Amino acid sequence: MEKLIQTLERINWDFSDYSSVKFPLDINSIPWYPATFPSLIPKFLIALLSGKGSVVLDPFGGKGTVAVEALKQGRKFVYNDLNPFAADIARNIMGTLLGSFEDGEQITKIIRSDREMLEKDKLRQCEDDEYVGKDETVINQLYEQDFWNRLDRNGINRDVVYWYHKDTLREMLAIYDAITGGEKDFSYHVRKFAFAAILKGVSSQRGHFTYVTDNCLPETIRYYNASAAYCSMLERVDGAVKEFRKQFSAVNFGGNLHHLIGESVIHCGDARGLDWLGDESVDLVITSPPYLCAQDYVKTMRLINLFFPEENLQDIISKEIGARFMRRKKSETVVQNFYDDLDRVIGELWRVLKEDGYFCLIIGQGKGKITDGYDTVQAVVDIAVEKHGFDKVFQTVRRISYKMVRIGGVDNEEIFVFHKRKREGKG
Ligand SMILES: C[S@@+](CC[C@H](N)C(=O)[O-])C[C@H]1O[C@@H](n2cnc3c(N)ncnc32)[C@H](O)[C@@H]1O
Repeated sequence: MEKLIQTLERINWDFSDYSSVKFPLDINSIPWYPATFPSLIPKFLIALLSGKGSVVLDPFGGKGTVAVEALKQGRKFVYNDLNPFAADIARNIMGTLLGSFEDGEQITKIIRSDREMLEKDKLRQCEDDEYVGKDETVINQLYEQDFWNRLDRNGINRDVVYWYHKDTLREMLAIYDAITGGEKDFSYHVRKFAFAAILKGVSSQRGHFTYVTDNCLPETIRYYNASAAYCSMLERVDGAVKEFRKQFSAVNFGGNLHHLIGESVIHCGDARGLDWLGDESVDLVITSPPYLCAQDYVKTMRLINLFFPEENLQDIISKEIGARFMRRKKSETVVQNFYDDLDRVIGELWRVLKEDGYFCLIIGQGKGKITDGYDTVQAVVDIAVEKHGFDKVFQTVRRISYKMVRIGGVDNEEIFVFHKRKREGKG
């Protein structure tokens, strides 16, 4: 244990030179998702705290950072998140990886055919016979009707017109047709993965993503080239998958990705009730819960919900732990609810973790009035140690870069490693 702690202490956990811009080929840097941690954090923790073939759980899985790092190092993962859009990202990543391991050229083929399809779609729009020889008003009317029909037929929310220029939208609809036109196979996952990743970039909302969260519509609608953004995103996905394959093969020497993913789990549900997971069934937990009142995760995914709507969102939102929309309520109640929620989660983690296993917690104090006078991080640590019996074996502060401070609303976060000691008298 002493040696392990010394190694943990030698690592600089800031990873301040890590960003999705600098590491575009890290597959986890591709999805658009708030408050995620750099993949280097789970990478080191998995390497140091678990062995090959073990099971790594993240009950607040987000875009699947822990799951991907677990696979890279030959571990199985158990992914959980309440947010259906987050679980969908994780499924798309896994579907993309699986397909490309079968045939390394598959994404290249999709890029080629989608590029051709988008080119043709542009021509078809210009040459459509129906519009030839008609005056401008009629053309506009036809276009409008055709356009609305297309949205309605696909169940796409008409509000898309407030976020995207009409010509951007026409390109997006062609991509949407390619995604939904076939089976839910490899190409579905690749295309949806790339499509979801460009949604904010091609929208007319140029502000911070919390503008999307809070439904602040763009003041001016401008055209952005969705076809080009999508094709270059596909190229990036292709590069990232190739990079993943290289890393996977280097570590796993002929290991079987199918087998590992087949024995792993993607679950969409509430971390306060992990009853679908058996007692002492996981070897390591690595997780970062929501920081109090820092984000509204489901609402942040507003744009993808316009195209691929999920049901019961109000119910799901009401189960979000520490949601930002609670920040105007009474501090005392909000803070106490947060502690009660994390108490339930940590209780579940104790139950599902094997003895001698580790639980790594990455957590920060949400900024803002609501947390004034409270040390929410220390309170959660006390719950883990005093109430549930974990031993705290490591703790460090991680400074977050300036850019991240603006994004997450926190200055720094802490990493804790807890140990579930073997019961007395056991082997
Ligand atoms: C800080 S983020 C985790 C990000 C993740 N570490 C990553 O790198 O992608 C916290 C996650 O907790 C999820 N969450 C919020 N309330 C939850 C609940 N009751 N049960 C499960 N997940 C929840 C959010 O949807 C969000 O994805």
